[in-house]
Amino acid sequence: MARLETPEALESFRQEILSRRDPDSPCVSICAGAGCVASGADEVIAAFEKEIEAKGLSATVSTKGTGCPGFCEQGPVVVIYPEEICYLQVQAKDVPEIVAQTIKNKQVVELLCFKDPATGKRAVKESDIPFYRSQQRTVLCNNIKIDSKRIEDYLALGGYAALAKALGQMTDLEVLEEVKKSNIRGRGGAGFPAGRKWEGSRNAKEPIKYVIVNADEGDPGAFMDRALLEGNPHSILEGLILGGYAVGAHEGYFYVRQEYPLAVKNIHLAIQQAEHYGLLGENILGSGFDFKVIVHQGAGAFVCGESTALMTSLEGKAGEPRPKYVRSNVKGLWERPSVLNNVETWANIPLIIDKGADWFTSVGTDSSKGTKIFSLVGKITNTGLVEVPMGMTLREIIYDIGGGIPNNKKFKAVQTGGPSGGCIPEHLLDLQVGFDELTKAGSMMGSGGMIVMDEDTCMVDVARYFIAFLTDESCGKCVPCREGLRQMHRILTNITKGKGKQGDIELLEELAETAVEASLCALGKSAPNPFLSTLKYFREEYEAHINDKKCPALACKELINFYIDPDRCTGCGTCRKQCPADAINGDKNLIHIIDQDKCTRCGTCFEVCPPKFSSVVKLSGDPVPDPVPEEERTIRKKIKEKG
Ligand SMILES: Cc1cc2nc3c(=O)[nH]c(=O)nc-3n(C[C@H](O)[C@H](O)[C@H](O)COP(=O)(O)O)c2cc1C
Ligand code: SF4
Ligand code: SF4
Repeated sequence: MARLETPEALESFRQEILSRRDPDSPCVSICAGAGCVASGADEVIAAFEKEIEAKGLSATVSTKGTGCPGFCEQGPVVVIYPEEICYLQVQAKDVPEIVAQTIKNKQVVELLCFKDPATGKRAVKESDIPFYRSQQRTVLCNNIKIDSKRIEDYLALGGYAALAKALGQMTDLEVLEEVKKSNIRGRGGAGFPAGRKWEGSRNAKEPIKYVIVNADEGDPGAFMDRALLEGNPHSILEGLILGGYAVGAHEGYFYVRQEYPLAVKNIHLAIQQAEHYGLLGENILGSGFDFKVIVHQGAGAFVCGESTALMTSLEGKAGEPRPKYVRSNVKGLWERPSVLNNVETWANIPLIIDKGADWFTSVGTDSSKGTKIFSLVGKITNTGLVEVPMGMTLREIIYDIGGGIPNNKKFKAVQTGGPSGGCIPEHLLDLQVGFDELTKAGSMMGSGGMIVMDEDTCMVDVARYFIAFLTDESCGKCVPCREGLRQMHRILTNITKGKGKQGDIELLEELAETAVEASLCALGKSAPNPFLSTLKYFREEYEAHINDKKCPALACKELINFYIDPDRCTGCGTCRKQCPADAINGDKNLIHIIDQDKCTRCGTCFEVCPPKFSSVVKLSGDPVPDPVPEEERTIRKKIKEKG
């Protein structure tokens, strides 16, 4: 196929692709995202290809390895079209049965369908699974329908229609106005209105301008950008070209961390394909608009996700933030107007242009429009990527979609906004998720990390953990960030070790305030958030650690002891056999005793003691009772005496 010279040619090509596809013939989509590949998706794909060929079905049945549909907890995920039958945790050995039953006989293999743990009911279609039912997937939904290496799949679903519309029917100013009207706020952190950022660049005097995709995704545990980059790279590319058109840029950059090799590969391929069809390069679709794209791999430093650090790194220098006397949309990369947006922000742009700003604003809250993808992880039954309308409550996300907290534990807090976000407590579970709502609650949207914590989580330790991460990631340019965070980390570590003292909280507050006030970039300015939010909502935990040397969550190693309850111990010996420190004394029919001097507090005995006995208990702040005297340790004897 030659270059597409006009929007009409693109449309005919799309029709040609569709005409070659029979919507009624089976298509097996197998998630080939990182999570599913780790659970064996590659073998499943190979098994489908082999089985379909062996059964002589290659002419009528197609298979594709796709992007991540989000339900990583239950991968590998397989969806069979046109019926949309969804199978979870599929292994290569299941494939012959799926082909024989579902593809040949249109029968559902019930055992591979999602089973509701509460009701035992099976859900056949993806949309019937509770994890998906309450989501509103406008950006992520195509991942499972697309082989990200095939531009035809993207085109078949309406890909590049927005670009054709913009170049064929809209002026660059009209594209900008539509984005402004949509009120889309950046999905990567601060939530700045994209349209206003674009307008600033467009109006800047300097004629050479740039548009940039921030695909650094530095937040630990977050993988929404990765899923889009790997699964649907053309959607981001199309957004970027539209951005270039609207602001008057002819050059765009993808800044991707090199730890995402599949994303890098897929973007390169997407660029090549788009160039081949004349959707990128010179005179795009015959419109006279030229645009080229360059991919840059970052080394994976968290601070390089910060806008000015990213641009400095793109310029080939050390990725350190620089002062923003003038915003980077006016003076950015090589001091030229540069629009930097997050992957998810760019992926929303073709939808806005194609369906219109009114469609986009019909979803969300007053100040946060559209949907947002979150990576839901931690102490939650269904981990994975969820895309929900802005305004959905935390409770709905955590319980209706996430399936609640496993093992009958109690919800304690949810950390949103990445490492420099904040922890939101149980009484705010009905908070609507939106940029301003989260900020008001002492946290932030960030790029969409959502870590759920249960009753066993110590909030002081959580603050210590995130401050430790940020201390390591500080570029070291400013003292309040470099030294202040280090000092905060030292004090928090002492508190979790039972070495906290009066005045520590006040000193932490002072250091936090200085970092917020005096740091150059948002890393330092927002780094105290984990401490400030945990102090705001869980102050009593700080006080218990400092005043009573007690960890109320029974989590801080130095503040807990393990003790075997003599009334519950059956002498089964499970703990003794698995204690790595040889700290448990006992024998058959003898009450077991922990030697506190030898114990390393690894917690193995607590975990392995059979739940029906639950003899090992954790103590914090209370003295460990004296061991049972030798003469009272025999279990049979004790029963006799009691009887
Ligand atoms: C320390 C730090 C790390 C950041 N990392 C990222 C990142 O990985 N991805 C991202 O899109 N934005 C990140 N940001 C936010 C960017 O600076 C910038 O606001 C964003 O990319 C703009 O795009 P948006 O308006 O579409 O959100 C980070 C900010 C800071 C301060
Ligand atoms: S605030 Fe921290 S990360 Fe940001 S420039 Fe200063 S030292 Fe570097
Ligand atoms: S906590 Fe670990 S070291 Fe201590 S008694 Fe139990 S298993 Fe042994």
